[in-house]
Amino acid sequence: MAGVSRRKLLGTAGATGLVLGAAGGAVGYGARPAEATPLASVGTDEVMFHGKHQSGITQGLQARGHLVAFDLAAGAGRKEAAALMRRWSETARRLMAGEAMTQDDTDVARDAGPSSLTVTFGFGHSFFARTGLAKQRPVALDPLPDFSSDQLDKARSNGDLWVQIGANDALVAFHALRAIQKDAGGAARVRWQMNGFNRSPGATSHPMTARNLMGQLDGTRNPKPTESDFDRRIFVPSSGDPSWMADGSYAVVRRIRMLLDDWERLSVAAQENVIGRRKSNGAALTGGTETTAMDLEKADAQGNLVVPLNAHARITRPDQNGGAAMLRRPFSYHDGFDADGVPDAGLLFVCWQADPLRGFVPVQRKLDRGDALSQFIRHEASGLFAVPGGAAEGEYVGQRLLE
Ligand code: HEM
Repeated sequence: MAGVSRRKLLGTAGATGLVLGAAGGAVGYGARPAEATPLASVGTDEVMFHGKHQSGITQGLQARGHLVAFDLAAGAGRKEAAALMRRWSETARRLMAGEAMTQDDTDVARDAGPSSLTVTFGFGHSFFARTGLAKQRPVALDPLPDFSSDQLDKARSNGDLWVQIGANDALVAFHALRAIQKDAGGAARVRWQMNGFNRSPGATSHPMTARNLMGQLDGTRNPKPTESDFDRRIFVPSSGDPSWMADGSYAVVRRIRMLLDDWERLSVAAQENVIGRRKSNGAALTGGTETTAMDLEKADAQGNLVVPLNAHARITRPDQNGGAAMLRRPFSYHDGFDADGVPDAGLLFVCWQADPLRGFVPVQRKLDRGDALSQFIRHEASGLFAVPGGAAEGEYVGQRLLE
């Protein structure tokens, strides 16, 4: 059995199901991500499978991630989908608890604890017609609008089913990915898969918001679970519309390539004007620390705004977008170098919201008109998934839809 011996039993912090580090502190996203976990507890940290919400939404960033979409096999419908969700839920529950698979475990995660493993399941637009459930499809799953700067690869976009796997150990994450793929059996086939990473727990002695591959602190202004409007912004209300989405959320997934050669040619000062924040500590260009409020009106001696009008961190603010907000919980990716030496690297941008039309869509519409960052990135794949609420004990994820 894989790593159950010395694992600490860690509970969830209220409804959000935050993982607790060894010191008992919540490792919430946007607080201090994975780095806050003392190294000794990396393997033993456990996130609960059962809960009000699915795991993998409010937990701190994990060092490894796999995003994988499946399409139902020809002939597979609602019955097969229900059986698959039941299998997947049991696998997720076992592995998140650090238990081995009952049959044919590959031993890949042997000796490791659950390492904050989370497994999150979602349904894409096409799932509902295939399972005869078109009437149950939420309006919020209507396809995202086309954006003028999109260069999307259809083969790596969307899909009937989506699984997000995250863990603080690469072997634990792969072990879960392989188990999920094998569980699919004849019912579903992998449509696309993407692999990502974040900083490893313990890598820095002064924990701070994680950096992306452009070197910026990314996640500073994320909504925090402690804020009174957090649930309203991120989760579908418990009253649910449709009811099977109660306490669920919508995930927008974008594979965003960073044009790193162009970016890295900029001076640090120019890079900081693109975002509107300092590269060193994430503080707004108007001063203070990472958490000091940005002064949107402040001008320099020549009368120019200190945070340029097209700076990414100005344009994306909720107060510039009719209150639109989302929880960004990305992984970085690097899929090697093109033949001409250009890195195929960037952000597996995953953002969570109660309604994409009050989150991702209005903000991306604005970015699409050209913020300063746009010329250094390229959206190459896209997905939108309905992620139902968490499964209660004895339930599987999606049961309220499929039974
Ligand atoms: C803020 C980077 C794409 C939405 C930020 C910040 C950075 C950043 C460095 C400032 C620190 C922070 O508050 O996190 C990037 C990079 C991107 C990217 C490198 C692409 C590779 C996007 C996209 C969206 C988005 C596609 C949504 C459509 C936001 C939001 C904020 C933000 C909502 C916070 C605004 C606030 O509340 O003040 N981003 N971003 N970003 N970004 Fe992005």
